[in-house]
Amino acid sequence: MTNPDPRELLDLALEAARKGGALAARGQEGISVLDTKSSPTDVVTEMDRATEELIRGVLLGARPSDAILGEEGGAARGSSGVRWLVDPIDGTVNYLYGRAEWGVSVAAEVDGVVVAGVVEAPVRGRTYTAVRGGGARRNGEPISAAPPTTLDMALVATGFGYEARRRRRQAEVLATVLPRVRDIRRLGSAALDLCAVAEGTVNAYYERGTNPWDWGAGALIAAEAGARVAGLRGAPPNFDLLLAAVPGLFEQLHDLLEPLGADTDG
Ligand code: IPD
Ligand code: CA
Ligand code: CA
Ligand code: CA
Repeated sequence: MTNPDPRELLDLALEAARKGGALAARGQEGISVLDTKSSPTDVVTEMDRATEELIRGVLLGARPSDAILGEEGGAARGSSGVRWLVDPIDGTVNYLYGRAEWGVSVAAEVDGVVVAGVVEAPVRGRTYTAVRGGGARRNGEPISAAPPTTLDMALVATGFGYEARRRRRQAEVLATVLPRVRDIRRLGSAALDLCAVAEGTVNAYYERGTNPWDWGAGALIAAEAGARVAGLRGAPPNFDLLLAAVPGLFEQLHDLLEPLGADTDG
């Protein structure tokens, strides 16, 4: 089977993310919690589920043999070699509070490698896109990461998973990082954190405990904008660490985080 053209996958990702974003944006006002997951603060709204359902319908309607990995459980097995990573609302807590910092993240993997990704932030009016090897764009215009800086001058975004047993360790890691950098930002959306690295509105981003649907699209967008995006010791981004920064700064932050161990108690 010949591999699909990544630009065609991007077009489909865009269609799905835009339709999903429009649906979620219409449903934001007056939204309430439907369910919780790993902890009482790890919330799901009815729009998380409805948006994922819509996106899944768009993707499988066009490409029925593809696989899907969606945050809200919308897994589909496929046979085409293409897998979609879908976070219908990344930044659900912001969404719940009527804030603008949330996005729809849709990425296309071919044989395990992300080749196209979209992060659509409807309330902010921003659409971030990338195709592997083709650069990163915001609303169609090329973007690039901020020039290298030293760690002590870096504005560093981070995030914290909602699992209660990880939070204490995350606070300890933050206590180590905060005195070493210019400042910390906690935007509340991993996908938008990566897009912030891509457009240079932060210098770096790290988080421990994220999943492929959080970073599938954003990691490609940040990488195509000139950032290095990886886990610990050169591993691909994974649950232990997702780190994005331009080369030079990346290594400084990596070396600070590397000895700090896992995000679980004990
Ligand atoms: C969360 C957001 C948050 C990050 C968490 C994620 P969700 O995703 O990206 O910024 O810190 O680790 O779980 O649950 O809002 O899709
Ligand atoms: Ca997420
Ligand atoms: Ca989500
Ligand atoms: Ca969630």
